[in-house]
Amino acid sequence: MEKKIALIHGDGIGPEIVDEAVKVLNKTADIFGHKFTYTPVLMGGIAIDETGVPLPEETVKVCKASDSVLLGAVGGPKWDKGEGKMRPEAGLLGIRGALGLYANLRPAKLLKPLAGACPLKKETTEQGLDLLIVRELIGGAYFGDKRTFTDDKGHLTAIDEMKYSDFEVERICRKAFELARKRRGFVTSVDKANVLDTSRLWREIAHKVKEDYPDIGYEDMLVDNTAMQLIRNPAHFDVIVTENLFGDILSDEASMLTGSLGMLPSASLADGEFGLYEPVHGSAPDIAGTGKANPIATILSAAMMLRFSFGMLSEADAIEKAVDKALNAGYRTADIMSEGCKLVNCTEMGGIITDGLSAEN
Ligand code: IPM
Ligand code: MN
Repeated sequence: MEKKIALIHGDGIGPEIVDEAVKVLNKTADIFGHKFTYTPVLMGGIAIDETGVPLPEETVKVCKASDSVLLGAVGGPKWDKGEGKMRPEAGLLGIRGALGLYANLRPAKLLKPLAGACPLKKETTEQGLDLLIVRELIGGAYFGDKRTFTDDKGHLTAIDEMKYSDFEVERICRKAFELARKRRGFVTSVDKANVLDTSRLWREIAHKVKEDYPDIGYEDMLVDNTAMQLIRNPAHFDVIVTENLFGDILSDEASMLTGSLGMLPSASLADGEFGLYEPVHGSAPDIAGTGKANPIATILSAAMMLRFSFGMLSEADAIEKAVDKALNAGYRTADIMSEGCKLVNCTEMGGIITDGLSAEN
């Protein structure tokens, strides 16, 4: 198969980790007889520097003309002072919106060799940890009207509108139920229905959707309780579906349970096959260029690309197995380093995973 991939390296460690994922993709293509072609495009801080805006039109055009998008990370202190629309993050939100990527899949799985890196008690992790957060990605507070103004009493005031319509809730809930069918068959819908109108609507729609999936287990859970249960008993969860802001926060929490934020991949999907794939972590400007970055989340994101956008299931499995193999052999980047393991840098980790790829795994 031939596939066109748009590459957004972005800022900070973005370029380093994307390079390693491309190495892995190319070897996978060789082994399985595919051809991947790449078009690099600008987004984030580097796009502000080079074109004056965080999301150039050309970038959206190239992404739309591609089969999928692989993204590193955007942002950094250099651009932190810009107003909202001129920040690198606005590029990320903009591309998600422009491509209609409403479903963000963030799997969190505790791999055996990293069990020691999980901050939870051994009795808790022994129960296992393998959950999928399905985050609504183009609605809610991140996309509502925003303004900062001085009110009539002279107080500097800011408003972020949080808004959801029925169709937005319905499509993301459907996605979650469909995904649960391919997993352990249990959906936890997370909201704050004791306080928020958007959450009460969310719950009402989620209950309607659930009628179409009698084979899938279901529960509602308040977001504050969910934050607690994730620490207390993460094995309870299979698929968690929730709105944009709650999903952002809970997915960082879940990532830590897997040992490091450097391990968590994500897929952002529209209807159909198209998707954008990126690690959950950010651009880590403090370690950019030092070789300390962990490329595994990006490599696993590339595996998700093969699975969800290209239907290449064996190929995706091969990448995931190569990652397991590297970890089982004791190779670690600094963020997941533990006693008795071999410390490697970003390029070395990418190389070890690439070398470990095989169709027979
Ligand atoms: C994420 C990030 C982004 C988000 C930021 C960088 C805009 O934190 O992908 O989780 O909040 O969605
Ligand atoms: Mn986040």
